[in-house]
Formats: sequence, C-alpha cells, structure tokens
Amino acid sequence: EKSLCELLLARIHDVPDYPKPGVVFKDITPLLADPEAFTALTEAFAELCARYRADKVVGLEARGFILAAPVAVRAGIGFVPVRKVGKLPGATLSQAYELEYGTAEIEIHAEAFAPGDRVLVIDDVLATGGTAEASLQLIRRAGAEPVGVAVLMELGFLPGRERLEKVLGEAPVDALIRV
Ligand code: PRP
Ligand code: MG
Repeated sequence: EKSLCELLLARIHDVPDYPKPGVVFKDITPLLADPEAFTALTEAFAELCARYRADKVVGLEARGFILAAPVAVRAGIGFVPVRKVGKLPGATLSQAYELEYGTAEIEIHAEAFAPGDRVLVIDDVLATGGTAEASLQLIRRAGAEPVGVAVLMELGFLPGRERLEKVLGEAPVDALIRV
C-alpha cells in the first residue's frame, strides 16, 4: 500500500527552468488527470475541514480553485474564491502583496462570509507564502476567522510556513507533501 504522500508525489512533475531560468515548476496536471490521486487529495483536505470545523473553503486563483472546489463539495461546506484583481462583480476587498519582481493584488467579495465564519484556505503550492498571507488578511478583513492553510506541496527551502504561522497564530499550516 502506497502512502498518500507517495501517491501524490508521483503525480507532480518537476519542470526545470519554467516559467524562467532557475525555477523548477511543480506541474500538478498529471495528478488532476489521475482520479485515484485526485480523490485521495480531496479526501485528505476534506478531513482537515472536518477537523478544524470549517464553515467555508477559500480557493486561491487559479490552481487553488481546482483543488478547493471538490473539497468544499466533499466536506459539504461553501466555496469562496479569492481572485486576481478586477474579476469579481460585487463589492470587494483587495490586498496587494510582494512578488519576486513587483507586486500583485488579489480580491474577495466583501460579503463572502457570515460574521465569524471558520475558513480553511487551500492552494497547490506554498512558496514564499505571499499569496496565502494576503488571502488571510482578506479573510480577516471580511469578518471571518482563518482556521488554517492547507496546501498540496510546501517548498521547505523557502520561509512560507514561518510567514503564515506569524499571521495564523494557533491555527495550523498543513502540507500533504514537503520538498
Ligand atoms: C502559484 C501557486 C501559489 C503561489 C505560491 O500561483 O499556485 O498560488 O504561486 O507562491 P507564493 O507562496 O510565493 O505566493 P501563481 O500566482 O503562479 O498562479 P496560478 O495559481 O494562477 O497558476
Ligand atoms: Mg496559485
């Protein structure tokens, strides 16, 4: 019996020098195409939703959407998108964050949550933690409580976890795979 970690890791392909020289891109499309692996991943995240008594799952555009939406369905809770700027039609809150070069901005619907909703953030990869950290700020500003960040893969050679733990306080960062 293969471990969950082995099953998932075998379906994530390293692509050297993409999107630029020196970067190793983590391609999750083979995992998404494998129903056994995608189901196992969804179940693992859904168990975290139950453990943390989450009321909502937030997915981070774009790859986080793919992972988080089936988790919300499996866990029987709502899905809330955090989008790149300019894509949400309602009243929004927006948060800028630093990239390696320049800045980016993400948004959430201001009315996405009931007051005090417990929210689990899901994304594919935790690298510098900039994207996830900005999402936690949006969730708090929208009146909800982040109860954790769950990722498929954590890049352990970058300080993303430390960065998120400062913002999360007691709430956990869960990575199914750490490389
Ligand atoms: C990637 C990845 C994470 C984020 C991790 O998304 O999917 O969301 O970067 O990096 P960080 O921890 O340094 O913030 P990206 O913005 O490349 O776009 P995509 O998900 O839309 O493909
Ligand atoms: Mg992303």
